[in-house]
Amino acid sequence: MIIAANLKTNLTRSATHDYMKELQRCVQNSTQEVIVFPATSSLDCYDTTVTIGAQNAYPVEKGAFTGEIGLEHLQEFKIKTILIGHSERRHILGESQEFIAKKFHYFKEQGFRIVYCVGEPLEIRESSKDEMLTYIHKQFEGIDTEYNNLIIAYEPVWAIGTGKVPTFEDIREIHSELKKKSSAPLLYGGSVKVNNVKDILQVENVDGVLVGSAALYVDHFCTMIGYADELEHI
Ligand code: 13P
Repeated sequence: MIIAANLKTNLTRSATHDYMKELQRCVQNSTQEVIVFPATSSLDCYDTTVTIGAQNAYPVEKGAFTGEIGLEHLQEFKIKTILIGHSERRHILGESQEFIAKKFHYFKEQGFRIVYCVGEPLEIRESSKDEMLTYIHKQFEGIDTEYNNLIIAYEPVWAIGTGKVPTFEDIREIHSELKKKSSAPLLYGGSVKVNNVKDILQVENVDGVLVGSAALYVDHFCTMIGYADELEHI
């Protein structure tokens, strides 16, 4: 399974080093694929077997894009994994589908592992199922869903950081729809916690989780990785 942590705008570089040291201890005997996305200023060369990914980068090698980082900055730390389409970038930072697709195309050309996020806001969830699926399908416009280095993360916007989680049946249903679109591994994200991760990982077509706030506690994240190992040995 794929167990990923999106640390968002948390943990300084020094705190991330402590985090990665602790995490390395617990992944040593794990068979899970673990990915951590530190804050941009915490990107570094970490002494770890865990994959380090970027939460964002501009689709350019380098240049005049104030406040952004480019391919060159990722290459310095041998980073080959990137998160694209996260709802916070879509809704808070205003990234359009067109721009997201441009970013996807650029990093695909560079051979990056792309964790591509989709998910609906509450008003769409509360409309009909058809509307919800149409909304999510639109988030795939311009995206090569058969890219062989792709991971998809389904993250309902209303479940992110709220403690609210869809029912397991809802997750099963939407994941089975998404599996028709792509054969890529499919993660669930949105209020994944130590107390629900085991159940979520057992839902059909859930290939892993993308964890935000709960992953800030390295012991919680380690517990989740341990649960995934246990489930694989049942
Ligand atoms: P929370 O786990 O805090 O809900 O965040 C999920 C997320 O956005 C991961 O990318």
